[in-house]
Amino acid sequence: MFQLTRSVTWQALKELQKTTADDRISDYFAGDPDRFDKMSLRVGGLFLDYSKQPVSDEVLETLIELAEHSALVQRRAQMFSGDIINVTEDRPVLHTALRNLGEGPLKVDGKDVMPEIQRTREQIKQFSEAVRIGEWKGFDGRRIKAVVNIGIGGSDLGPNMACRALLKYRHPELSFHFVSNVDGAHIQKVLSGLDPATTLFIVSTKTFSTQETLLNAHTARRWFLDNAGEDADVGAHFIAASTNKAAAMAFGIREENVFEFWAWVGGRYSMWSSIGLPIALSIGFEGFMELLEGAYEMDQHFLSAPFAENMPVLMALIGIWHINFQGAETQAIVPYDQALHQLPAFLQQLDMESNGKSVDIFGHPVDYKTGPIVWGQTGSNGQHAFFQLLHQGTRYVPIDFIASLKPEPGVEDHHFALLTNMLAQANAFMEGSLKGEEGSGSRPDPYSCPGNRPSSVLLLDELTPRNLGALIALYEHKVFVQGVIWNINSFDQWGVQLGKRIAGEISEHIDARSQDFDASTQRLLALVRGHFTPPDREPNGGKEAKGEGARPRRKKRQA
Ligand code: F6P
Repeated sequence: MFQLTRSVTWQALKELQKTTADDRISDYFAGDPDRFDKMSLRVGGLFLDYSKQPVSDEVLETLIELAEHSALVQRRAQMFSGDIINVTEDRPVLHTALRNLGEGPLKVDGKDVMPEIQRTREQIKQFSEAVRIGEWKGFDGRRIKAVVNIGIGGSDLGPNMACRALLKYRHPELSFHFVSNVDGAHIQKVLSGLDPATTLFIVSTKTFSTQETLLNAHTARRWFLDNAGEDADVGAHFIAASTNKAAAMAFGIREENVFEFWAWVGGRYSMWSSIGLPIALSIGFEGFMELLEGAYEMDQHFLSAPFAENMPVLMALIGIWHINFQGAETQAIVPYDQALHQLPAFLQQLDMESNGKSVDIFGHPVDYKTGPIVWGQTGSNGQHAFFQLLHQGTRYVPIDFIASLKPEPGVEDHHFALLTNMLAQANAFMEGSLKGEEGSGSRPDPYSCPGNRPSSVLLLDELTPRNLGALIALYEHKVFVQGVIWNINSFDQWGVQLGKRIAGEISEHIDARSQDFDASTQRLLALVRGHFTPPDREPNGGKEAKGEGARPRRKKRQA
């Protein structure tokens, strides 16, 4: 059996970690005037500068060897061609098919899936245009003015992030709102001030069994019926994006208003599917297609570029150097672009739900680190929140800076300040501050910054649908490459099913003194019980909630 950590290349990288441990990144520049040109590359409207990363030429060459000795070429071909690479769920992984603009069939179980993908795209086109031009009317004949997406995880984060990022392209007479948390305060805040007669709800849920989404959907429907319409009117105000048409129709959504997608699209990879409906409604179908085209162009780059010039592969390998050899536990995402303020949250699910695994594809425990903790916030705000730790703390935190070059008209001065702040920070992280620059004298200088702290800068020419699509596909493929090298399944998420199941068990015991839980949970349940009486409506948002993840009660663990 292949042992990654015993491979020659892995051992060579371990040796290189030792021999380069005292290198300073800034010395690499001093020793090589061509470093920037060698360690930067452009793909379409994206430019990546990774020259401030702590990698010597030899380290980079050896990392590329690691990729070449991995199953990357084969697994990449398998993914794009629809082979079953999600082995624990026995599914292909074909989010790339959703943006496939090439010719030729793509077969799943012997059936070409491109016709149904194109059919759903046409359904999205027709529907989004009907709503945007006012042809789609609410029950009292008025056009839709507010769109509320009800979903969580991949059924929220992707469309939410994209709608926010592309706000300047938004239809001027439509407002967009996203409800995800089961905390009633979330839906109450969103619904307050909306007119049910001109509000369209999109129930976005791959399985149509997620407790939070169903509870929110039922509450939205009750709000609609209490404040405006009749049962017969629900069809004009509720649509669904789901793989579970039957459950959507049982909720009261008309069959023709269920925008289907498929089991071989992972939730965190689904914004290219009908889960992306809010994006098409907001920026128009043409804009949505540009988003897909940008992702498709990145797919083609990922498929064809040699590893040494392959943006997703290089980002993945630098991440592996940080995580498996430099001891990084986290990866910071710092967009210097307020329109991208939801990007860190999106990338958090994409990366951590994909590569937060501790067994390989054969179910054997791994003996190396896998997915990092992904976190972040926009700059320049981060400079006033956590940059102190990044500059002078005891932790090693690689940073991805992301920005768009083109300023918005009227605020060019702000944009110049934004970008110069970012460049200054990336430089300061690398150079640090010399002794005495901020402090004084020969005493130990608490004021100086050690520097030698790693970052990459990723520049978009402009934040357009095309470049955003390429950016998201870039990170999808970076996560995929790391998963292949770590030999894990990046496309299942059994860890979240456990939580869903226990939540169901606990909510069923809220009024029983169950001995099935630990003393802490029992006592906390008693506190919770004392503070409210469960609402009369069914727990978990209705019978369809007994979907995936609902299992018979757990037997108490033997002491
Ligand atoms: O977080 C677990 C998860 O299954 C995600 O993978 C998914 O995006 C989210 O819950 C929502 O699931 P659904 O779209 O089925 O409601």
